[in-house]
Amino acid sequence: MRVTLKLATSLDGRIATASGESRWITGPAAREEVHRLRAMHQAVLVGVETAIADDPELTVRLPGYVGMQPTRVVLDSRQRLPGGSKLVHEASRLNTVVITTSNPNKRLTDAGVTVLPVSSNDGRPDLAEALAALRSHLTGRLVQLLPQAAPTDGYQPAVLVEGGGQVAASFLGAGLVDAIEWFRAPIILGDEGRPAVGEFVLNRLADAPRFKRVAVQEVGEDLWERYERL
Ligand SMILES: NC(=O)c1ccc[n+]([C@@H]2O[C@H](COP(=O)([O-])OP(=O)(O)OC[C@H]3O[C@@H](n4cnc5c(N)ncnc54)[C@H](OP(=O)(O)O)[C@@H]3O)[C@@H](O)[C@H]2O)c1
Repeated sequence: MRVTLKLATSLDGRIATASGESRWITGPAAREEVHRLRAMHQAVLVGVETAIADDPELTVRLPGYVGMQPTRVVLDSRQRLPGGSKLVHEASRLNTVVITTSNPNKRLTDAGVTVLPVSSNDGRPDLAEALAALRSHLTGRLVQLLPQAAPTDGYQPAVLVEGGGQVAASFLGAGLVDAIEWFRAPIILGDEGRPAVGEFVLNRLADAPRFKRVAVQEVGEDLWERYERL
């Protein structure tokens, strides 16, 4: 699967204040571009801390949009996603997946959430396996929705990873990020703000994931930088 990491940060690379406040760092024009990006991906993924802190819908909300909604995906080792969250509440209507390391929890499956258990890597879903399970789920869904479509052998759905910092670090650390869409707002949040990319062990500069900037443009007050993996 092609993995794109979306970051919406301050100038100093923070995604939230120390207290976790993150709405809205970037302005309306940048947020609209994010909705367009969602519309171009088959899945949108976040970590469970973002799902709990922000209670996002992870849907495409653009005036006049009638296309498919992306599958909403949460990385959630212990299936902590709250029953009262918008993601669970809308799961019977909008395809919603939890990727976990444990057996499916009835509380989630009864609400219409698809729970995909994968192997654990240090207690968290192994990301390569998570992507393989998600690809297979999305392929099954495509066949279900479009039974007359061409064979799906080469189908490579795309996933937009929308954070938070720990999940961004895991994907980058595993070398699984193909592209970055970086929206940078002209504010400074300081060292105690939450970093866009959490901890990942890196001893040598040569081992750092490297990207090539392929585009840069102003969106409202913000800057949108686009990168592809080298
Ligand atoms: N500005 C923005 O665009 C933006 C975007 C997103 C989030 N945010 C902010 O970021 C904050 C949340 O970010 P965060 O870094 O604390 O948490 P996060 O990355 O959203 O979620 C981390 C949690 O996901 C679970 N997880 C499962 N598999 C994982 C894996 N392979 N790698 C990493 N985590 C995995 C872990 O919980 P378990 O071990 O229980 O599974 C982990 O604690 C919130 O304040 C939110 O508002 C801002």
